[in-house]
Amino acid sequence: MIPMKRLSLLAAFAAIALSCRTAQSPPRSATDIGSPSRAPDLGPALYSGDRRPAAFPAAWPLKAGRRAVFGAHAMVASDAPLAGEAGIEIMRQGGNAVDAAVAVGFALAVVYPEAGNIGGGGYMVIHMADGRAAVLDYREIAPLAASRNMYLDAEGNLTDKSIIGPLASGVPGAVAGLTSALAKYGTMPLAKVMAPAIRYAEDGFIADSAFSRTLSASEKLLEEFAGKDVFYPAGGRIAPGTRFRQPVLARTLRRIAEQGAAGFYRGETAQAIADEMRRDGGIITAEDLARYQAIWRDPVVSKYRGYTLYTMPPSSSGGVTITETLNILEGFDSLSAFGSARYAHLLGSAYQRAFVDRNSQLADPAFYQVPIAKLTDKQYASRLRAGISPLHATPTPDVEHEMATLRPDEPARSSRHEGTETTHYSVVDEAGNAVATTTTLNALFGSGVYVRDAGFFLNDEMDDFAAQPGKANMFGLVQGEANAIQPGKRMLSAMSPTIVLDRDGSLLLVVGSRGGPRIITSTSQVILNVIDHHMILSDAMSAPRLHHQALPDTLRIERNGLEPAVMDSLRAMGYAVGWTSGIGLVNAIMKVRGGYEGMSDPRSSGRPVAW
Ligand code: DON
Repeated sequence: MIPMKRLSLLAAFAAIALSCRTAQSPPRSATDIGSPSRAPDLGPALYSGDRRPAAFPAAWPLKAGRRAVFGAHAMVASDAPLAGEAGIEIMRQGGNAVDAAVAVGFALAVVYPEAGNIGGGGYMVIHMADGRAAVLDYREIAPLAASRNMYLDAEGNLTDKSIIGPLASGVPGAVAGLTSALAKYGTMPLAKVMAPAIRYAEDGFIADSAFSRTLSASEKLLEEFAGKDVFYPAGGRIAPGTRFRQPVLARTLRRIAEQGAAGFYRGETAQAIADEMRRDGGIITAEDLARYQAIWRDPVVSKYRGYTLYTMPPSSSGGVTITETLNILEGFDSLSAFGSARYAHLLGSAYQRAFVDRNSQLADPAFYQVPIAKLTDKQYASRLRAGISPLHATPTPDVEHEMATLRPDEPARSSRHEGTETTHYSVVDEAGNAVATTTTLNALFGSGVYVRDAGFFLNDEMDDFAAQPGKANMFGLVQGEANAIQPGKRMLSAMSPTIVLDRDGSLLLVVGSRGGPRIITSTSQVILNVIDHHMILSDAMSAPRLHHQALPDTLRIERNGLEPAVMDSLRAMGYAVGWTSGIGLVNAIMKVRGGYEGMSDPRSSGRPVAW
């Protein structure tokens, strides 16, 4: 039997989550994109004539031609304007984009506790103006006492313990990640970049209606745990317009500001986490916390139509899956007009194939030998492309069968370890340094468990493992043995912070999203909208999105995002096609003439903050 919470989350994510034209060459460079506009109707002279007006279906609620936010010096695009302001405050004081990103990360943990966090983990992609690039993996890990079947009941059925309650949490990585990033690429002391977050926690911030609504929606989960008294004082959610203070969290943040990562992973904070676990049957111990390390990895660097992408390698699947998808698409001279059935078919088919690999071949590289080079190889993509019928959908089982013969080598199983909600934010500074960060507790407010003596929520990231290989997780993802639970292992993620360089090597786009597996599809579609469909940033963000993750074998389209006749064409091609609500929430920044444009997803309440 599938537990109720798992069923309702599956339903929620199921619910969200043939005309041709010749391809025109994309703009040659950032200089090109930033040259004076030859299409005045596209707004200020920020873009070249290569940007084209977009047309969306009549019933699609987001209109083309909106204005993005412009900043001459710097930009933070995030889901919480107060967090963006923290980043801009730091850059105005002379900090670089990494200093600002760390400030934003800690501020989100205060003002956006449903997803911003110190009790979760994430990924950061950094591209410095001097050409250095780095990626940081601060994903949670399975506690030492975790085991393969820990979420199965006596009959072998999956319980909801990977989603809700203390067993659902991986060992948090956020503080290790933010402090490591600052130490390596930042310029300011930790206490200085944490000052805005500490201020928000100590002095409080004014809750807005979005925050209050989120609390209403999450009451059933949160009232089971210690956060109840903090977020529902006197029995009701914090009302909009109320000043909300978090003194316990402020003390934790001060410990981190003074002691660095040790202020979280050792001493009082670690003890508070271990105590919270012990109260209710959780398994994270002081030893788990003391052992946690963020990992600097080599970015997945790929080329798409002459543009360069820097993305996350495993333990996130984001970079490899986006690269594989774009490699498949690159071989088509034309992707056809935006909104056409052929475009939806090519995109859906490419995602379907890339997700087959994602779901079976990707996992924590410390535990599983991931064939990254082969999966991101353009020849391999050509062979996958050849399997796409021009006129028909291919059922996923047939795709899987074909791909099993195409895959270069079966990856060797490595022996033992040797050695809903997410939020993305993009940051750029005046020098052209850029940071793309995605961080999460997984579901809204994570596992619901609130560390009462330290003031924050713990994640429910354990559900990103294949808790029962071959069975769907919270996002309907059916994953294999490679991603089975093992102590100390990072669960496979879809987070896809991405930095795109223009054809001349200059910064073009800083982008990423939230939405489980839809992170991959939403992030890559914004990139495709800019590169292939020549949209201005706001249109690239407003454009309707689609999603295919191989299993379930359905092509999901954002409601009213395609004309009814196009939906009929896709059905005639053999697709199980249906509407869904929002696919991803993207925060992006694009380099334009004289500065940057920033845009938070018009599907949500985020807002970029510019300088
Ligand atoms: O790492 C992952 O792929 C997921 N834990 C992300 C969850 C997510 O995006 C939920 N937000 N909507």
